[in-house]
Amino acid sequence: MSKITRISMTFPSDLLEEFDKITAEMGYTSRSKAIQDAVRSFISEHKWLREEEGSYAGVLMMLYDHEVKGLEHELTHIQHEYTHLISSSMHVHLTDRDCLEVIAVRGEASEIKALQDQLSTKRGVKIVKLLITAI
Ligand code: NI
Repeated sequence: MSKITRISMTFPSDLLEEFDKITAEMGYTSRSKAIQDAVRSFISEHKWLREEEGSYAGVLMMLYDHEVKGLEHELTHIQHEYTHLISSSMHVHLTDRDCLEVIAVRGEASEIKALQDQLSTKRGVKIVKLLITAI
């Protein structure tokens, strides 16, 4: 077994509540184990593309809160820096606050990953999922 490190972190209450609910339904009895598994899944999802080379095509699905100050402007600005990568995008106003954007991408794996990282790390962006295939 690897060395254990104890950390403390903050969560929005509703996020933690939802996490506890879904992990209890799945059969988790330990919150630490559930969080460790979620972190492992996050790492494997984000690690593979960094190690890939070559051309890919696919879509980025992004869910964000458009009421977070400056966010919409920032997300547009980032996309304008990747015009060579983005072939099309669609915006759906989901609720009074939430927006869904579907962004079609085509290009180098490392660039698609860089775009995903830039979008997903902004405050107010809730989910960025990437679905791609090698071309
Ligand atoms: Ni919208």
